[in-house]
Amino acid sequence: MSSMLSVELDRNSEEPIYKQLIRQIKMQIESGNLSAGTRLPASRELAKDINVSRISVVNAYAELRAEGYLSAHAGRGTFVSRDGQSVGSVTNGAVAQSSTSRAMHDYSIRDMMKLARRSDIINFSHGSPPPEFFPMQHLQSAINTVLERDGASAMLYERPEGYGPLRSGVRDYVSALGIMCSVDNVLITGGAQQAIDLVLQALVSENETIVTSAPTYIGILDVARARRLQVHSIPMDEDGIRLDCLEYYLMENSPRLIYVMPTFHNPTGKVMPLHRRRQLLNLAHEYDVPVLEDAVYHEFRFEGEPLPPLKALDTTDSVIHVGAFTKMLLPGMRIGYIITSNSQFDRLVRVKQAADISTSGFNQRVIHMMMQRGVIAQQLERNNRELKRRRDTAIEAAKRYFPEGCKWEVPQGGMYLWVTLPKSGPTAAELFITAVQKHVSFAIGNVFYVNGQGSRNIRVNYGLQHPDRIEEGFRYLGDAWRELTEKYNEIENSPLL
Ligand SMILES: Cc1ncc(COP(=O)(O)O)c(C=O)c1O
Repeated sequence: MSSMLSVELDRNSEEPIYKQLIRQIKMQIESGNLSAGTRLPASRELAKDINVSRISVVNAYAELRAEGYLSAHAGRGTFVSRDGQSVGSVTNGAVAQSSTSRAMHDYSIRDMMKLARRSDIINFSHGSPPPEFFPMQHLQSAINTVLERDGASAMLYERPEGYGPLRSGVRDYVSALGIMCSVDNVLITGGAQQAIDLVLQALVSENETIVTSAPTYIGILDVARARRLQVHSIPMDEDGIRLDCLEYYLMENSPRLIYVMPTFHNPTGKVMPLHRRRQLLNLAHEYDVPVLEDAVYHEFRFEGEPLPPLKALDTTDSVIHVGAFTKMLLPGMRIGYIITSNSQFDRLVRVKQAADISTSGFNQRVIHMMMQRGVIAQQLERNNRELKRRRDTAIEAAKRYFPEGCKWEVPQGGMYLWVTLPKSGPTAAELFITAVQKHVSFAIGNVFYVNGQGSRNIRVNYGLQHPDRIEEGFRYLGDAWRELTEKYNEIENSPLL
């Protein structure tokens, strides 16, 4: 993996080259441009690239190692060993304490986001699909059929591993995605959220560490907090979680699990390419750490080539796969599933039984009936077409109304647009307050991190709104930004300052 080190030397300066190198590398580490785990080029390579003697690079690296900025690992290379912005490692008591206070900070931001529930607000905050996507007639008909067919037995306690026909249905469904498993490897859960919680309960004990990307899905952070687990965050690049940083971390630490969302990551919408999926699996196998694959958005693709889930590429039983019929069908039915190896299955069933005995057998039957009637395939087809229309509207509206200097990547699927706000001007939290006054809301970036990052990011769920509301909402957002910026300028130019 190449580093993102960039060096510009002043060959006329009196400052020796090796000192210029030290200064520039330090600055890039301190500013967060080079994060912990980044592999630096070999001294010979860098010397050649920037046209200096190798001894200058060797001296610079040696001094940076002595000061704790870099570390060398025999046969593997030189790595950045600390973070300017602290990338959220919460692995010892002292840091854990500061992370607890950060968690409280997150909660106050989340409280603030509750404002977005007001009915007069164009809500881009929540992670829900829009209710107009829900197949209500099919639901009604499936409920009637199940009641007529099964009567009171549909209301009995269900087996903890799930309703047999639905487990078979899930096996068939995931096999179409390339995951070959037996019904005995399918555990039905209360949505993907419970699936994640059960896996963490079964595999990770209090104070042990899980690894996730920064940013990440809020729900995994919630579970980690509730179960008192440590979270180590790994930065992302355009292809998802950075494996150079991950490997560096795995060399020295033994986390219990790596949590990833390879397809349409929440909140960034990124997709991990095939070669990185394979590399991740190799790493997981080499360091013997299980990977929890969250695939709730896997089928939300409206552009580009579909990619196999990690579990379909997994030949060493390293991956636990989680999916759900919530986002794609009916969130309120709370049906999700775990696909896991035989060795973990019984443990997970015991945890599931302790949690809630079983997921509602009635809901499982209804979802199974809808599945048999082809509703899932129809839904995906219709939803993805509409999500693309909404994505296109959102991108055009963002170009028109968002302030200059905003950045985003165009997602090929899913529901989210992850926007980086300009470097100067209001933060996401400041913008949120003014935006709500203008009747529009979004998710504030900080809530997707463990360590207070994300203050200049917002997540917009464009999927939740009709195109005309997207246009209107983005206009209000742009207005909110301009209004705030003008206030800032007034204060800055005030004669009192
Ligand atoms: C990445 C991710 N995983 C899991 C979930 C939880 O989904 P469910 O409704 O299936 O519990 C969500 C919901 O927002 C999500 O975004």
